[in-house]
Parts: sequence; structure tokens; C-alpha cells
Amino acid sequence: MRRKIVGSSWKTHIYSIYEGKKLAKEISESVKDVDDVDMFLLPTFPMIPLISTTLANTNVSWGAQNISFAEKGAYTGEVPPQVLRELGCKYIEIGHAERRTYFNETNMTINKKVKLALNHGMIPIVCTGETAEDKEQNIGKIRLTTELMWMLDGLDEEDMRKVIIAYEPIWAIGQTEAADENYVEDIHVFLRNRVEKEYGKEIAENITIIYGGSVDPENAVKLMSKDNIDGLFVGRFGLKAENFRKIVDAARGKVE
Ligand code: PGA
Repeated sequence: MRRKIVGSSWKTHIYSIYEGKKLAKEISESVKDVDDVDMFLLPTFPMIPLISTTLANTNVSWGAQNISFAEKGAYTGEVPPQVLRELGCKYIEIGHAERRTYFNETNMTINKKVKLALNHGMIPIVCTGETAEDKEQNIGKIRLTTELMWMLDGLDEEDMRKVIIAYEPIWAIGQTEAADENYVEDIHVFLRNRVEKEYGKEIAENITIIYGGSVDPENAVKLMSKDNIDGLFVGRFGLKAENFRKIVDAARGKVE
């Protein structure tokens, strides 16, 4: 049985440390009774030390939105994995569409980041998604396969037991509506089958595949009704504790 998970990347929507601390406190308060779903928040790098003190001893974990592709050395402006580990990061988001588009991340650097996160005992959340154009031309699955194979290249079975796959169709990020739940379910089955081909049934059945892209409290209920959607990756609509709680409840199947 795959455990459900709900997390939120704050991107740079939350752009003050103090605002971030307040939100982390409100969110952790609002979900403090939840023990059947894993939860995490991904603030921007410099907020992590402060947020970690707020979330320590709560049921909400924290992590980072990115990681350096190199362990250490002359890489100006990067944040090394060891530092993130020392800050108690449990999850590292890797290869989000915005990183690929605005910061020229390639499949090769993404693969290096995945390996480094794992080597440092952190859980990589590997993001993949097709563009609107891919979808129109009916080649979305080719992109997903390519990205997935690149991201996971060189991982062994033990690594694969830790990885989380985040399906984030680019055309559904930053919109008013999420992708349709049946469409997402179909893609998640496709991704799980791809994993099965490479790593076998047992790994595929146990790997967590979450969906992200305009998730809100209403569509969360529909998305979480599907067997292969194991959790939700929330952006804008998770920036209020009340919404975050509702989305967590959707993941638990507890909605009034
Ligand atoms: P959004 O972001 O919910 O604001 O669309 C989702 C994401 O990029 O993960």
C-alpha cells in the first residue's frame, strides 16, 4: 500500500522569511492531527534554517526546490547537497519545468542532482511533464519517457525505492484548472508501466507518483479518487493553511 503524500513548493511566491515562518506555523498547526499522510513544504533556500525550527517536532517535513549538480567545488551560486542535508532537508525537488525553462537545466544535470540527493540520504522528487505542443501533436508520452529514463539513469533498486515521481504537465502549471483526473490517471499508469519495464513489478507497484499543476481543494478530491495518483504537489493554492489542510484531507479521502 503506497502512503499518500501532499507537499507544497512555495517557489518565490513567499518572498519574505517572516511571512514564510508565519505560514509554516499556520500550516503545521492546521494539520497537526494528521498521521495518515506524509506532508512537506519547500521554501526558498535561505528560509530553510528558520522554517526548520518551526517545523521541527511536527508532522510536516521540509526540503529544497533545487540542489547543486556537483558535490562541491567552484560552482558559484550553487547550494551543495551536504548543506541541505545538514539543514534537515528530507525532500529535494529536481527538474521542475520552471528550472528547465528559465535556468536551462538539462536531463543530464538533473540526473546528477538526483544521484547527489540520494547519496546524501534525501528523497528526490523528480519532475516530468509534457508541453501543450507535445500534447497537441500527441507526442507527450515520448517526452515523458525520455525525461524519466534520463532522470533515473544509473539508479539501482534501492535508490528507486526512495524516489518520488512528480507528473507536472507544463500546460497545467499556473492555470485556473488542473489537468483532468482521468487524463492524469492514464499518464500515471503509463509512468508506472515504464518503471516496471526497467525495474520490475515490485518497484513499480511501490513507487510514489504524485501530480502537480493548479491543484486546489476542489480538484484535489477528484484527483485523489484515482488509484494511481499517490499524492499532490501544490503551488499557488497551497499558500493558505486552510487550503493546504483541505488538500491533505482530500488525500486522506476525508472530505465532508
Ligand atoms: P501551481 O504550481 O499549483 O501554482 O500551478 C504547481 C507546480 O508547479 O508544481
